[in-house]
Amino acid sequence: MNRIKVLDKEFEISIPSEKIQERILEMANQISADLKSLDPVFIAILNGSFMFASDLFKKLSIDAQITFLKLASYQGTTTSGTVKQLIGLNQEIKNQNIVILEDIVDTGITLDTIMRQLSGYQPASIRVATLLYKPDACKTDIPLDYIGFPIPNEFIIGYGLDYNGYGRKYKDIYTLVTNH
Ligand code: IMP
Ligand code: MG
Repeated sequence: MNRIKVLDKEFEISIPSEKIQERILEMANQISADLKSLDPVFIAILNGSFMFASDLFKKLSIDAQITFLKLASYQGTTTSGTVKQLIGLNQEIKNQNIVILEDIVDTGITLDTIMRQLSGYQPASIRVATLLYKPDACKTDIPLDYIGFPIPNEFIIGYGLDYNGYGRKYKDIYTLVTNH
């Protein structure tokens, strides 16, 4: 399937499954080598990263722990409106070496929020592995330790990423077709 329709929009394939798996294997090998003696705890950020986290974790050559977190939005009382809070952290991460697993870093604001909240738990170190990265959209300067694919500033779906909740199921990644 080179073209798919999700809700009212058309998407065309941009990163096929084989390329995704190949790249994840490279990332897993690199991470295994770098963190060999550090007994890392992987933290996958839901929902988008569930496929990436699952595939990367299976490809690690070291044993490790994994846990899952979600950023919940709620209407806060601050002037900025929506406040996002990290929920689900039920594991002691103090003094642990953390690897955050993200599906995509777009503006970087989500990751910035996550980093600031996780830092409060005083882990020994925090590394970031993201499958996708939009350098032209990113407004923060958080160092990304492992990047799967830098991509153009276009809307994508598939492999865990959604458009209004749909389109997560595909094993390939698709880019929105825009009609100029
Ligand atoms: P941020 O802009 O880096 O904070 O990214 C926020 C979140 O927006 C990501 O974790 C994704 O869930 C979502 N997102 C960003 N770009 C895309 C995209 O192209 N397709 C689907 N979701 C996206
Ligand atoms: Mg996400």
